[in-house]
Amino acid sequence: MDLSISENPHFDTQIIFTSKDEKPAIDDFGADIGEITLRYENGLSKIFCGIGEKNSCALQTIRETAAKAIQKAIDLKRNQVSVIAFNNSSEPLCGSNNAVIEGILLGSYKFSKYKTEKPHDIKTVEIAGEQLNKSDIKRTETICKAVSYSRDLVNSNASEVTPQYLAKEALELECCKELKVTVLDEKEMSKKQLNLINAVGSASSTPARLIIMEYIANKNDKSRTAIVGKGITFDSGGQNLKPTGHIETMRSDMAGAASVLGIMKALVELKPSINVIGVIGAAHNAIGAASFFPGDIYKSYNGKTVEICSTDAEGRLVLADAISYCIKNFKPNKIIDFATLTGGVVVALGEMVAGLFSNNNELADKLFKAGEKSGEQIWRLPLYKQYSESIKSDIADLRNLSKFKKGTASSITAAAFIQEFIEDTPWAHIDIAGTAFNEGSQRGEIPQFATGFGVRLFFEYILDSSN
Ligand code: BES
Ligand code: ZN
Ligand code: ZN
Repeated sequence: MDLSISENPHFDTQIIFTSKDEKPAIDDFGADIGEITLRYENGLSKIFCGIGEKNSCALQTIRETAAKAIQKAIDLKRNQVSVIAFNNSSEPLCGSNNAVIEGILLGSYKFSKYKTEKPHDIKTVEIAGEQLNKSDIKRTETICKAVSYSRDLVNSNASEVTPQYLAKEALELECCKELKVTVLDEKEMSKKQLNLINAVGSASSTPARLIIMEYIANKNDKSRTAIVGKGITFDSGGQNLKPTGHIETMRSDMAGAASVLGIMKALVELKPSINVIGVIGAAHNAIGAASFFPGDIYKSYNGKTVEICSTDAEGRLVLADAISYCIKNFKPNKIIDFATLTGGVVVALGEMVAGLFSNNNELADKLFKAGEKSGEQIWRLPLYKQYSESIKSDIADLRNLSKFKKGTASSITAAAFIQEFIEDTPWAHIDIAGTAFNEGSQRGEIPQFATGFGVRLFFEYILDSSN
């Protein structure tokens, strides 16, 4: 879908946002928040979208409404659609044009790679209005395209999206002087003692990779924000094999890595004057004769030894090495990791809200606010000492499962495990196990299957000048 910008609408299918006081006089349409109606007028198909009283509508409602409206235009099999997101007095709708565009672009995504018959796709969407901020619209479009890219990576077959494939995607982003990409293969990782990542990848015919992307666009500024993604290209559970009912969606266990790749892709396109280090620990957690074993002990990159209590708690192992490597080699000022880490977070917060864990209140607060604004909501859970106590091992330094009763506080103890490798770096861990993959049907701008969660949250956070 192409996005164009113009002062006046040119197409005969129109999506028109309107508040109650400026709504057209049509029966059965009160312009209530989120209300949508289709009218045919003088050869035009008008999809009216209500936003209630002027300036009263939440950005998230606008996103959802825009997504529903564009889905209506898709159902009508239209090729060209004008979106009128300004009211008569040319005031921006509660500063919401970006929310409208997000709803349109994110809500029209459909994953059809494996469908013989492709669904209808709108060719051009025209954003019509006076005083439109073109650079804002371009930025939103770039970020939304990065979300689609991230969704495509997660949705594609695990047999295609291997650790090597993720590495190749990263290398393909290396097209400008601001970005440098380095990939460590299993032999280089073994030399460097990145033993936890290699352990997780050991049974696979597609061995593990550590992918490092250095985006440096402000050389005078020594500060660096690191983003780290869990890139388990398929999580079978390993020797602690996942049962039927839990294994089928496990190609999505690289969603954190896909978010990091999406973010790096948008960075090289937008070129903001900031420094971001993207790191991906990529491995296929396979079951086989060469797999790592429950009960075995491995020495991590930072020297701490880990007793493997479950080969299915593999994400924290990969993240531990990826984060330690990042700290030792890049000394970031802060680290944000994205990981489909635990089923527990789905129990606690559901599919709509991700778990946030942090050792730094300021970072946590800023991320929380970015979540509220972007609509990718996150909720903080505690990291008390008792949780860290529960992951101490009797035979090694740490255990990758807590000593607590099975299935209790599993998201927090997973976060506490990662914290052991953080040293004093301000850090936030975002558990996206519930939000990364929608097993139900489409919800507004959130499609079925991969959601691309994290990309918009990160940009809302990082492009806020106070960070
Ligand atoms: N990849 C899973 C977590 C997950 C579950 C992601 C559901 C998406 C949807 C992770 O590696 C895992 O298996 N976690 C275990 C940890 C347990 C063994 C402590 C879990 O949460 O059950
Ligand atoms: Zn697992
Ligand atoms: Zn996993």
